[in-house]
Amino acid sequence: GKRERVHLVETSPRDGFQNESIRIPTHIKTELIDRLSRTGLSTIEPTAFVSPKWVPQMFDSEQVARHVVETHYQTSGNSSDQKINFPALVPNVTGLERALASYGGSENLKTVSFFTAASETFSKRNINCSIERSLENLKQVIELANSHNIQVRGYISVAIACPFEGATPPEQVAQLAETLIKMGCFEVSLGDTIGMGTVKTTAKLIEKVSQRVPLNQIALHAHDTYGQGVANVTKAAELGIRTFDSSLGGIGGCPYSKGASGNVATEDLVYVLEDMGFDTGVDLELLAETGDWVSEALDMPYGSKAGRAVLSQ
Ligand code: HMG
Ligand code: MG
Repeated sequence: GKRERVHLVETSPRDGFQNESIRIPTHIKTELIDRLSRTGLSTIEPTAFVSPKWVPQMFDSEQVARHVVETHYQTSGNSSDQKINFPALVPNVTGLERALASYGGSENLKTVSFFTAASETFSKRNINCSIERSLENLKQVIELANSHNIQVRGYISVAIACPFEGATPPEQVAQLAETLIKMGCFEVSLGDTIGMGTVKTTAKLIEKVSQRVPLNQIALHAHDTYGQGVANVTKAAELGIRTFDSSLGGIGGCPYSKGASGNVATEDLVYVLEDMGFDTGVDLELLAETGDWVSEALDMPYGSKAGRAVLSQ
């Protein structure tokens, strides 16, 4: 029979790179995106339109976005046909306006991702405002996005635990998730920003959130700090989640949460989800070659065990 599709959102060029302390040259970022686009991935988050004063790595969002549009979009007349969605991360209307300008308008920019947090302290540290104020920003972002037919994804950071406030009450996340959907986000991505989640806390979170938001509008954004990313994703898949954020080679972290390591590795998810009977649409070997290439290009160890295993066969 036909296998059920799971949707992987590749975040290495954005979440992966934003935490690297070395300034990564733009041509490596764009080559990574080009290589990723040949692996079968259907969504790649290429960059963030945040303040480069806060996240210096995002100094070249404009160039990266322009490259994506020039290389991966076939535009004829005023319709643009693209197989891969390239959502840009934006924290506010300024970010959305920058994204619109660099993508060359809304025929190319189909989706943006907005981010808020489940704890006040994390919100303040990450985006320099309260959760309430960030929801006002979201309202403005959705208004402008809607007028351009752009859909908005909503991330909730520290959905399981906060580095400053400790364990996050799942009901608090569930209410915020419901608010985001009611405001007009098409999907909420639950961010385990510091990777403290376990099978138990992930299941509890999904149980609570799914009482307020349909399962097909919930994504899991697992970080692998405690090595629990794969376990948490498989648990979430068993519970009916079908969208997972991940990062090639597990690269990355978060600049405002000390000690957070990268997202769960895309290669590891492809390996286990395919074994569970899902169709990821992704070629694991091509992915592993890309992971190996980027690790070498950045002089970092290649962090995906599944990727290393595939290459050594
Ligand atoms: P702020 O300084 O509080 O903003 O920054 P402001 O509104 O007071 O404006 C101050 C200056 O910033 C002004 O410029 C604005 O124009 C400018 P000035 O007049 O001083 O020259 N500004 C901007 N510049 C560029 N792009 C913008 C923008 N907005 C205002 N969009 C802001 C507020 C949110 C911009 C800032 O705090 C920021 O950029 N923070 C970075 C947050 C970030 O990128 N975090 C990492 C991504 S989130 C994440 O990783 C979590 C996730 O992966 C899920 C998970 O794991 O949990 C998604
Ligand atoms: Mg993240």
